[in-house]
Amino acid sequence: MVYAATATAPVNIACIKYWGKRDTKLILPTNSSLSVTLDQDHLRSTTTSRADESFEKGDRLWLNGKEEVVKPDGRLGVCITELRNWRSIEEEKDSSLPKLSQWPLRIASYNNFPTAAGLASSASGLAALVASLARLYQLPQTPSQLSLIARQGSGSACRSLFGGFVAWREGVKSDGSDSLAEEVAPQSHWPDMHAVICVVSDAKKGTSSTSGMQRTVETSTLLQERLRIVPGRMEAISTAIKEKNFEEFASITMKDSNSFHSVCLDTSPPIFYLNDVSKSIIAVIEELNRSSGKIIAAYTFDAGPNAVIYALKENIPKVLGAINRFFPTSEEPRDPFGIAAQDLPEGFDLKVVREGGWEKGAVKTLIHTRVGDGPRTLSKE
Ligand code: DP6
Repeated sequence: MVYAATATAPVNIACIKYWGKRDTKLILPTNSSLSVTLDQDHLRSTTTSRADESFEKGDRLWLNGKEEVVKPDGRLGVCITELRNWRSIEEEKDSSLPKLSQWPLRIASYNNFPTAAGLASSASGLAALVASLARLYQLPQTPSQLSLIARQGSGSACRSLFGGFVAWREGVKSDGSDSLAEEVAPQSHWPDMHAVICVVSDAKKGTSSTSGMQRTVETSTLLQERLRIVPGRMEAISTAIKEKNFEEFASITMKDSNSFHSVCLDTSPPIFYLNDVSKSIIAVIEELNRSSGKIIAAYTFDAGPNAVIYALKENIPKVLGAINRFFPTSEEPRDPFGIAAQDLPEGFDLKVVREGGWEKGAVKTLIHTRVGDGPRTLSKE
């Protein structure tokens, strides 16, 4: 008999960035991080896992239709082995359970967003894999416990096991048992938190997060300063989220993105993830905030040039207006909300942006989305 389970998992974008490992095998970070989970109605990974006694020996995986090798000691292999071990514990407790832990697996995963969206898909992909296997194996573990496994697939994936606002606690233990994800606030707490993804480039990034952060740990002295500052930021942003204080949330988010890119520059050889279009997006958002008389939008950049702009729903028309004015996109925005761009605040001065040295750049695509829920599952025998 074939047992199968399907799960979908969301993308998450960090406001306090994870950058650096204290243990590269277990994937234990040098600092805690915090992210917003984005709506999986718009962006998601879907994974189906099947177990069958009669499958030929060995696990097999297809990613977006292409077969990938599952190395037993690779990141994916480690996740599968740990989940199998948890299943075999359940099988020992209850001998009537089918011995799924001993059967080969066939796993198929795909993203509904094109790789061309320039978004890291490893977080949603690994979270969907862990959620689908946890469902297949009927595991009793909580999302936080499952995050311990997802973390070993890719650090940021552990945060995609929750919806809403999520913290990944760095932990202190050397076995990693306290380095897990926790919900700071659910999606329902602040549903007006929206995000606009500006796709600047769909090219594969030059330096991967994994190798880039390792190089930073080995060579950056500025990282020590960052590690001293992040705990206070974690506290402050959690409070801002709980109090729905957007200005504070936004100010910390922008500061932390800039701090992360500073330690990248302080790495030897230096790592440049932002390009001129990214920098002009920063200038446009800074000018939007200045001319609004308060902070209404926050930019953040991961290990690449694409921007994610957080803003409350009511201010999205202004954000779209500002971006459209400076960067006429080559494609229609992907906006499930159908919100139209609005005139900019009266004092918005493109000259200020241009005087900063920024010329009209190219934003390929805009994707408008919002805070979303955690993994969803369904299963059948
Ligand atoms: C800049 O989770 O991709 O997006 O653990 O080596 O797989 P590995 O790295 P990964 O790093 C993400 C880095 C980041 C910041 C963040 O998401 O917190």
